[in-house]
Amino acid sequence: MDIEWDERYSVDDEELDMHHKGLFYLLSLIRSRCSGVNDSEYNSYYITQLEHFSNTHFRLERILMLDNGYMGMMRHIAEHDEFTKQVARMRSEFSDGDESHQNELIDFISKWLLHHVIIEDANLKPFGRDKVGGRREFDHGT
Ligand SMILES: [Fe+2]
Ligand SMILES: [Fe+2]
Repeated sequence: MDIEWDERYSVDDEELDMHHKGLFYLLSLIRSRCSGVNDSEYNSYYITQLEHFSNTHFRLERILMLDNGYMGMMRHIAEHDEFTKQVARMRSEFSDGDESHQNELIDFISKWLLHHVIIEDANLKPFGRDKVGGRREFDHGT
């Protein structure tokens, strides 16, 4: 199951929306590039991209939550940690080269991410920086 970003998933923050699109795209790339390719270097490259990109994205959401004193932050961060764990599992299980198993795992992670964006990230919408009157200044260095 490939997931695609949709306007309905917007959190009223262009940068976060772009990240979500990128994460969905990376997962579809992993599905199409890695499936059937029993090349660990290849698989590892795309999984590394997913690790880096999701870390950057989670960091930005964390700053947004801190900045706005979001009460659900700990629960939200726990979900991010769970995603990171699943991607680590993906890295170790992709090395066994079993294609149906790999597809199952990508499906699972894709559905999980979609659910997180729709349910948890949607809670960040009131803090979205594209909202009328929203705060544009944002310190990425925190
Ligand atoms: Fe997110
Ligand atoms: Fe999130």
